[in-house]
Amino acid sequence: KGLNDLARRAGLLYFGTAVDNPSLNNSKYLSIAYDTSEFGQATPANGQKWMYIEPQRNVFNYTMGDAIIKPAKNNGQMRRCHTFLWHSQLPDWLTSKNYTKTELISILENHIKNEATYYKNDCYAWDVVNEAFNEDGTYRNTLWLWTIGPEYLEYAFKFARKYTSRQTKLYYNDYNVERVNNKSIAIAKMVRDFQRKGVPIDGVGFQAHFKTGSTPSYEEQVASMKQFTKLGLEVAITELDVRTLLPDSAEKQAQQAKDYANTVKACKDTDDCVGVTVWDFWDPVSWVPDVFPGEGVACLWSANYTKKPAYYAVADVL
Ligand code: XIL
Repeated sequence: KGLNDLARRAGLLYFGTAVDNPSLNNSKYLSIAYDTSEFGQATPANGQKWMYIEPQRNVFNYTMGDAIIKPAKNNGQMRRCHTFLWHSQLPDWLTSKNYTKTELISILENHIKNEATYYKNDCYAWDVVNEAFNEDGTYRNTLWLWTIGPEYLEYAFKFARKYTSRQTKLYYNDYNVERVNNKSIAIAKMVRDFQRKGVPIDGVGFQAHFKTGSTPSYEEQVASMKQFTKLGLEVAITELDVRTLLPDSAEKQAQQAKDYANTVKACKDTDDCVGVTVWDFWDPVSWVPDVFPGEGVACLWSANYTKKPAYYAVADVL
């Protein structure tokens, strides 16, 4: 049995992976990505981000998103759609000009309206807002914050509810929130505030970009997820990877295996943690080496397509 089979047997909705567009011409890669016993869900690693979807103002291009979403759908794999609003990977037209508050709110609505309508029946969940908080729990200083103010988050979720289908789960997604800390506490506060005001939100995504040997403990991860499930939200592990300081070794692989398994078990054991998504499964296409120099081998499958100890450790806890 593969990881998705095991995850479903364990009561999760899916075990999934990010897929990036350049991987689509690699047939060996695709034979694993599209193997529904391993992966029951896909997330476009880039294809639905603003810079690709609306490269010019009010000009929409769904080519890259479709290339990931359509085959997954045809394959019977669930789709987590990613992401309507982020501070990163924005098009130049948006970042190189100062818009007024009113303009930027209408730009945001128009973007969400078009992308949500286009993918109306395609997404189990949308990451409506990605990475809006700093580590100390304050709002991240982005063009959204400095032009619109903190209400931009409410606008984004209200627009998402207005234009997505009724079943689509609306998520807030972030990293370094897998412990109860200033950042996750601030997000829980935002959720309570939304609930008081009637702003829609259904879930919180835990990215879980981790480092071998220094991931939050099982108990810490469960406790952080419970901050949200006790408010009636679902949670998911949305971008799991565990990167290692190179060179790799058998000891590091054994530690990485424990770290992966811990997170998967934390989700499995938390009621309303619906699934785990890895931020790609094959080392050569991982984002890690580009962003964290000297680190790598963060995935479950190694370059030669062998399954690492981490794969078997995940299978074991499911
Ligand atoms: C990353 C992609 O994997 C890279 O290919 C891209 O160059 C940058 O973005 N958090 C997120 C993801 O929410 O969208 C990011 O994906 C990784 C960190």
